Amino acid sequence: MASSTPTLEVRDAVKSYGEVKALQGVSMRIEAGQFMALLGPNGAGKSTLFQLLSGLFVPDAGAIAICGEDFLKKPTIGLAKLGVVFQQPTLDLDLSVTGNLRFHAALHGLGAEGRARIAPLLAQVGLGDAGDKICRTLSGGNRRKVELARALLHRPALLLMDEATVGLDPQSRTTLMALVKGLCRDQGLAVLWATHLVNEAEAADRVYVLHKGRKLTEGTPTEVVAASGCASLEEAFLKMTVPPAGAAPGGKPEEKAA
Ligand SMILES: Nc1ncnc2c1ncn2[C@@H]1O[C@H](COP(=O)(O)OP(=O)(O)O)[C@@H](O)[C@H]1O
Ligand SMILES: [Mg+2]
Repeated sequence: MASSTPTLEVRDAVKSYGEVKALQGVSMRIEAGQFMALLGPNGAGKSTLFQLLSGLFVPDAGAIAICGEDFLKKPTIGLAKLGVVFQQPTLDLDLSVTGNLRFHAALHGLGAEGRARIAPLLAQVGLGDAGDKICRTLSGGNRRKVELARALLHRPALLLMDEATVGLDPQSRTTLMALVKGLCRDQGLAVLWATHLVNEAEAADRVYVLHKGRKLTEGTPTEVVAASGCASLEEAFLKMTVPPAGAAPGGKPEEKAA
């Protein structure tokens, strides 16, 4: 519901790396249970936004609230509510699946109750019999599932998935996405799913198109297509992010059309 406290609220976030303006005033709101695709080509600023949301960088300007709490003033409160699967895999490949999750449980100070959640969570992601396996022996898709289970271990309200399906085969992609969508529906998890793949964005509740550090458009996939005047999200995305020959990219679609 639009009037309730959103799980994530970002207002006018700005972040530069020296001369590179990675985010130029990004605002975003995600409600509990919502699956938001952050769709943007390489270099759009998706990972930079994730780095701000996971506290790795502080924005140059702007505000971030997680479950209504000011993330910049009280980061530990927000971090406890946050699960993250980063673009670069971060498992310890020489530890077992359970070993990786136990380490995470210890980091979050979860104790016996948290450790007791490891086995059911692994079963939930389809790895019920893989707990003792060394992560190096797992397929890419199963490694990502371990990272998902780990990200969920401390019962986050907000899950950040940064291009989590890159390098996976189509079936593993579909399975991972279906798992996460089920968590939105059944547990009210809010999800920000960064991708450069239009077909993943098509399956989201909402799509937020980021390009050159700015929002180009936002809405349900149907709304975004309708507003673009295109026949598909793929066509709309290309129209927004790929310049016509001889024109500068990155304008809003209506500006480019003018
Ligand atoms: N640590 C960094 N130092 C300098 N420039 C960076 C750094 N990280 C990202 N950038 C630049 O910021 C822009 C946004 O990058 P990024 O957030 O990684 O985009 P995306 O995840 O959408 O591909 C790009 O121009 C990228 O080259
Ligand atoms: Mg990235």
